[in-house]
Amino acid sequence: MSEPADTQLVPPSSVVLVSGGSRGLGLAIVTDLLDAGVRVAAFARTITPELEKLAAEHPDRVHVGSVDVTDLRAAQSFVREVEQRLGPIDGIVNNAAMGQDSLHAHTATEDIARIIETNLTAPLQLTRLVIRRMLAKGLRGRIVNITSICGQRGFPGLVAYSATKGGMDAATRSLARELGGRMLVNSVAPGFFASEMSAVLGPTQLDQIVRRTPTGHLTEPVEVTPVVRMLLREHTNINGQVIVVDGAASI
Ligand SMILES: NC(=O)c1ccc[n+]([C@@H]2O[C@H](COP(=O)([O-])OP(=O)(O)OC[C@H]3O[C@@H](n4cnc5c(N)ncnc54)[C@H](OP(=O)(O)O)[C@@H]3O)[C@@H](O)[C@H]2O)c1
Repeated sequence: MSEPADTQLVPPSSVVLVSGGSRGLGLAIVTDLLDAGVRVAAFARTITPELEKLAAEHPDRVHVGSVDVTDLRAAQSFVREVEQRLGPIDGIVNNAAMGQDSLHAHTATEDIARIIETNLTAPLQLTRLVIRRMLAKGLRGRIVNITSICGQRGFPGLVAYSATKGGMDAATRSLARELGGRMLVNSVAPGFFASEMSAVLGPTQLDQIVRRTPTGHLTEPVEVTPVVRMLLREHTNINGQVIVVDGAASI
């Protein structure tokens, strides 16, 4: 990769914080970034054996922690630990989220509040926390929000979830403008892929999604990770965008 001469360009991220890096897409992103030589900090409420194994294999390049993304104080101390272990954070992947499987009329008030807190409020707070530190240090960097095709298309049973994903896509655009090119801010919006979150979908729903997908299969995490890596690492002028990775299922 040849480096553009313009020093105003946002450099590739070298220390990336991945929320929800313990399984599913988050774990695939952590693995892919490590393969690309990036130093990675990952957290989730429960550290899985897979994430523990990566930390043991790359003790100098991985820092993991058990943190609830809705606990701002815990997130703050994790960020400080990461900076001591790996150096200043210059990339964030907001990936942690919870799913939903309930018609809106039947979703309890507390459940709506919890989905919004986990999927919208917490990533906004985490982003604020990290970019304040980056700006204070004069660092430039990259932010990737993992959203969903549900932010743009309707799916029954996912009303509050879809609202949070659409909200993060809107935040992506405004933050990209607000940061004035000091950081590149983008969303990656995958179609449905197999994970603990999507396990609530029955075989009929999954068949229906596959039938509607021109590429003929559900999205795989490995089909999403190169896009996330590109947004964090390549010299591009992509900023404030939502990149859909769904095999054209939603077209
Ligand atoms: N699966 C799909 O079909 C699909 C489609 C489009 C977009 N997405 C998006 O892709 C991302 C990853 O989804 P996935 O399917 O890989 O989900 P997943 O397998 O359920 O993994 C979610 C990750 O987030 C963590 N997490 C959840 N709540 C958390 C909290 N309160 N604090 C800290 N960590 C938390 C989980 O760990 P703990 O539970 O241990 O905390 C786990 O590491 C999400 O943003 C999701 O909305 C998924």
